Amino acid sequence: MRAWMLDEPGAALRLADVPEPDLRPDGVLLEVLAVHVPAYTDVVTQAGPRGGVPTPLVMGVGGIGRVLAVGEDVFGFGVGDVVAHVGLLGSDDVVAPEEFLTGWTGIGGRGERTPTIAAMQDRWRDGTFAERTLARASALIRLPGATGAPHEALLGWFAIAAEALDRADLRAGHEVAVLGATGQLGTAGAHLALAAGASRVVAVGRNVDLLERLVGVDPRVQAVPLVDRAGTTAAIGEVDVVLDALGPVPSAEPTLAGLDAVRPGGAMVLVGGVREDLVIPYGLLMRRRLRLIGSWMSRRETLLRVWRQAAAGVLDLASLPVSTVGLDDPTGALDLAARAGGAGFVVLVPDGTASRAS
Ligand SMILES: NC(=O)c1ccc[n+]([C@@H]2O[C@H](COP(=O)([O-])OP(=O)(O)OC[C@H]3O[C@@H](n4cnc5c(N)ncnc54)[C@H](OP(=O)(O)O)[C@@H]3O)[C@@H](O)[C@H]2O)c1
Repeated sequence: MRAWMLDEPGAALRLADVPEPDLRPDGVLLEVLAVHVPAYTDVVTQAGPRGGVPTPLVMGVGGIGRVLAVGEDVFGFGVGDVVAHVGLLGSDDVVAPEEFLTGWTGIGGRGERTPTIAAMQDRWRDGTFAERTLARASALIRLPGATGAPHEALLGWFAIAAEALDRADLRAGHEVAVLGATGQLGTAGAHLALAAGASRVVAVGRNVDLLERLVGVDPRVQAVPLVDRAGTTAAIGEVDVVLDALGPVPSAEPTLAGLDAVRPGGAMVLVGGVREDLVIPYGLLMRRRLRLIGSWMSRRETLLRVWRQAAAGVLDLASLPVSTVGLDDPTGALDLAARAGGAGFVVLVPDGTASRAS
């Protein structure tokens, strides 16, 4: 079958003919229907996947597939079911649980690659940038009513943003600020906050055109261009929840601007790719009774809930611009994804022959 292969950390992804995956106990064989190509995929491959991965590796995290065959000891999935892959694979031990992203990175919950993760990576190795994949059943979610349409591939990123907003205890009526609202995760966060009944959603970012596009989605959205820390905080005003979905910005200032805007009793959740250290005044957190929370990927239940929102029409995934690509040109696809960012999601449709935009 055809797949996007990483030969070694730092190499460019290339189209390769690879052996068909073999069905094994605990596994489900999937026809891959649609997979989101994250904006920073090229960065992940060029720098070498974080934490290390075994190579050669078929890359690709998450996605939507149709069940072709079900392995021994798998219950509840049937041939023909449309499922989502949550991307995250956990060990079986509840005392010291470990997890990693299949086909993507080797970092677990503590940010390091342990012998357990290395062993799991070796066994459940390849990702979803391929015509077919073998997934461990524990990473799959059955999606009643799903068809595998390209927009459904956005569920993974929406679920990550939804998990973060859940962890911040977002409620209807809350005022929310999204840092990095012009990115894909931030766009998802803004749409989810609106769907959850937020009374005001402040979209913070540096791309004014994209901020204005979000304003056009709903009158509750307010655009705030990213400036210096004090200016950004003042423009946001007080909010109940701040979602930090920024990419690797070279400074902690935008994040701290968001923290300064959290009203007493509120929460800030870090879900982005900022790698700067934050200097947090102890008294500020204590006196304002703030919660500062981290969030990584999503639980399967969260993804299912987002799917139900989409299926019910509460969340209009189809309103988001999506460009589909086939397997033929991985370099072109990664380049398109990097240039698109929040302006549009790139989705790989492995059996699609022509690229198209919708
Ligand atoms: N916690 C998790 O589970 C999880 C899961 C997935 C991804 N992530 C992380 O989340 C981050 C965002 O992902 P994404 O898919 O939304 O990426 P993306 O579409 O590339 O968005 C990146 C965002 O960061 C902004 N940004 C980047 N560099 C900046 C700078 N120097 N100054 C100001 N703003 C800057 C971008 O603004 P412009 O539009 O102006 O460029 C954009 O809003 C990634 O870095 C990724 O590592 C975390």
